[in-house]
Amino acid sequence: MIIAVVPGSFDPITAGHLDIIKRASDIYDRIIIGIVVNPSKKPLFSLEERLKMVKEEVAGNTAIEVDSFDGLLVEFVKMHGARVIIRGLRAVSDFEHEFQMAQLNRKLSPEIETIFMMASPEYTYLSSSIVKEISQYGGDVSGLVSPNIEALLRRALAKPGEGKELDGYNGPY
Ligand code: PNS
Repeated sequence: MIIAVVPGSFDPITAGHLDIIKRASDIYDRIIIGIVVNPSKKPLFSLEERLKMVKEEVAGNTAIEVDSFDGLLVEFVKMHGARVIIRGLRAVSDFEHEFQMAQLNRKLSPEIETIFMMASPEYTYLSSSIVKEISQYGGDVSGLVSPNIEALLRRALAKPGEGKELDGYNGPY
């Protein structure tokens, strides 16, 4: 049984993340999505919001579990009995940082392997930051995130006094 961890900020989770998660779950027996508690950038969504939204997105797949971590990724991986870290690569620009992280993680825990999956062509331009930016200026992010996340983005980015009522969304956050 090979367990793989898909770590990230997921602020918010995008169609690109979901594509990588789905493809990884077709290969590995079990996937643990690891949401980092304190990403380097201040997150738009709280940890609780990110945990809830990611759980909802993968609810249909019983081989996927969602958890959060604060501290070293390799410790989280070991705690879950996993031996693989999955990262998506979109463009060459991702490579340098990903290479550094993979090498550091290997130095910390040589028994853990980082596996890179190439983003599907339709998502090579997609990132959580770009989704937030488009949303902030009222642009259409359908197809880039799920309808649930679209609603959450509208609510999170609504200016005071605006966006209090969301069509078709009555969730708790
Ligand atoms: O979605 P992101 O922001 O690209 O994910 C980055 C993440 C969470 C994978 C990375 O920041 C991380 O692993 N953080 C945990 C701290 C850690 O283990 N650092 C040492 C290895 S670089």
